[in-house]
Parts: sequence; structure tokens; C-alpha cells
Amino acid sequence: MVNLGLRASVAMRVSALAAALLLQIGDAIADISQVPSTPPPGDAARGESIVFSRQVGLCLLCHSAPAGDPRVQGNMAPSLAGAGARWSAVQLRQRIANARSINPESIMPSYASTDGLNRVAPAWVGQPILTTQQIEDVVAYLQTLRE
Ligand code: HEC
Repeated sequence: MVNLGLRASVAMRVSALAAALLLQIGDAIADISQVPSTPPPGDAARGESIVFSRQVGLCLLCHSAPAGDPRVQGNMAPSLAGAGARWSAVQLRQRIANARSINPESIMPSYASTDGLNRVAPAWVGQPILTTQQIEDVVAYLQTLRE
């Protein structure tokens, strides 16, 4: 009888473990299904307003652009002029999504990544700066900067 009781309790633990595992696998599948396999097409006009926005993109804190008032643009980073001629969409996307994947010392924010951040305010934990759609919009705008 003792033996049976033991077996039963082991069996219960195993099935509890299996259930927990299944739940985790279920979560992982749900997460994967939310990642779009092909990113939505970008909108250059929306991208331009993100790049020039002091609340959303803040790109001109560091970069200058071939438009707008140069007195409110940065000079800590290469000008965005001609970025669309220098880089492909894939290269632009990688730089914006995760600049540190190209240069680990980069001061440019990784707009799609939440890794390696310190002292993030609770309301922002786990949230990237830009959504996948916003990054595509910025890429579409940068591609128009040919010279
Ligand atoms: C805090 C400063 C900073 C901000 C904000 C910033 N960048 Fe950068 N960016 C850099 C620096 C510095 C580089 C040079 C490469 C490096 O050090 O990573 C760079 C490189 C780039 C490049 C490659 C430039 C080239 O032609 O060599 C592009 C394109 C770019 N950034 C786009 C953006 C966009 C778009 C935004 C806003 C969504 C942005 N950056 C925001 C600092 C910044």
C-alpha cells in the first residue's frame, strides 16, 4: 500500500509538471504567432514625422537631416542625408532596430530591443521604443533620402 501511495504521488507530480510544461509551450506558441513574418509596408510620410518628432523618434537629438531647421538638429552622429543611398532597407532596419548589434558601443538607442537597459521605469518595462510598424515607416522615409 505504501508503495502504491508513493507511486500515486509521483504520478501526480509528473502530471502537474507536464501540465505546467504544456502551459509554457502554449505561451511560447502564442508569442511566436504575434510576430508578423513579413513586416507591414512602411509609410514614408509617417516615418518622416517620427524622425522629426521630439517625443517619438528623437533621431535629431543626435543626427542632422537634409530638411528642417539645422539649429535644432544634432551633430553627434552622421547626417541622415543620403542614408537611403548608402544603406539598403535591410541595413537601415537593423541599425534602427538594434544599433548595438552592429556597434556594441553605440550610443544610438536600440529602438526595437529591450535588452541591456538599466533603470527602466516600471510603466515601460518590456516595451520597445518603436513598434514594428513605426520602424518600417522610418525605414521607408530614410530610403527617400538619396543625397
Ligand atoms: C543618442 C544618439 C542617437 C539617436 C537618438 C539616434 N541615433 Fe542613429 N546613430 C547614432 C550614432 C552615434 C551613429 C553612428 C554609428 C554608431 O555609433 O552606432 C548612428 C547611426 C545611424 C545610421 C547610420 C548612419 C550612416 O549613414 O552611417 C542611421 C541610418 C541612423 N543612425 C538612423 C537613426 C534614426 C532613424 C534614429 C531615430 C529613430 C536615430 N538614428 C537615433 C546616434 C543616434
